[in-house]
Amino acid sequence: MVEAVQDAGVVVTGAGGGIGAALARRFAAEGARVVVNDLDAQGAEAVAEEIGGIAVPGDASAIVGEARDALGGTVDVYCANAGVAFEDGGDGGPLDERSWAAAWDVNVMAHVRAAHLLLPGWLERGGGRFVSTVSAAGLLTMIGAPSYSVTKHGAYAFAEWLSLTYRHRGLKVHAICPQGVRTDMLTATGSAGDLVLRPTAIEPDAVADALFQGIAEDRFLILPHPEVAEYYQARAAAPDRWLAGMNHIQRKWEAAR
Ligand SMILES: NC(=O)c1ccc[n+]([C@@H]2O[C@H](COP(=O)([O-])OP(=O)(O)OC[C@H]3O[C@@H](n4cnc5c(N)ncnc54)[C@H](O)[C@@H]3O)[C@@H](O)[C@H]2O)c1
Repeated sequence: MVEAVQDAGVVVTGAGGGIGAALARRFAAEGARVVVNDLDAQGAEAVAEEIGGIAVPGDASAIVGEARDALGGTVDVYCANAGVAFEDGGDGGPLDERSWAAAWDVNVMAHVRAAHLLLPGWLERGGGRFVSTVSAAGLLTMIGAPSYSVTKHGAYAFAEWLSLTYRHRGLKVHAICPQGVRTDMLTATGSAGDLVLRPTAIEPDAVADALFQGIAEDRFLILPHPEVAEYYQARAAAPDRWLAGMNHIQRKWEAAR
């Protein structure tokens, strides 16, 4: 059991399935009171019923007040997990206005809006926890998915900003950056996902395990695939070499399509 989480009021967005459901189950198993949010109301209700949580369906950007009320006025842990992914970098070029708008809204602005509403209470109490489900695409870049890659870089940067700005005032921030995780989103990634994500994909429970290890160690960066640390270092140390390697994968993807 992780002491910091027992009896905590926790919100997990996008928790009607996939990684969010695994996080919600794990927080509940650790003794937290959990609000299960998802656009998919049935999914949210099913997970909430299973774990003895409270379903608050709807758009992640619009439910913070309702979730806070459902938890008796205090959110101790907010998991910004809901996300959307698009394959918008194929032969049609990088500009699909709808996918960029949706990715920006869910993958970045939902985090900013929630933090804006929760920070005053967290700063007043001198404590709070913001968990961002980013992606390895937020540290690296995903083949064939420019809107996803850019917005996940944005989510990572926002989590960093929160951490460096408020850590001396009691805010804990964690950025989870997995590669492939066996969820509906992975199924939808198509041939690019087949090439780069599926071979090393892990179960959603492994992401929850990695988060709880990170909470116990008070660590910002959560890497359920530890090899991502090496890729991230390689990218920073030698950008052109890293880009050439990624372009090699891009060409393999083009040949396989
Ligand atoms: N599956 C992967 O390989 C993988 C890898 C790295 C990061 N991630 C990230 O993990 C997070 C969870 O994804 P997942 O893999 O569990 O996918 P998923 O599709 O199984 O789950 C995402 C959930 O978010 C919900 N959702 C979408 N938009 C929403 C909104 N505006 N408000 C509320 N709910 C919304 C969906 O209905 C869905 O239930 C995402 O942020 C995703 O980018 C996934």
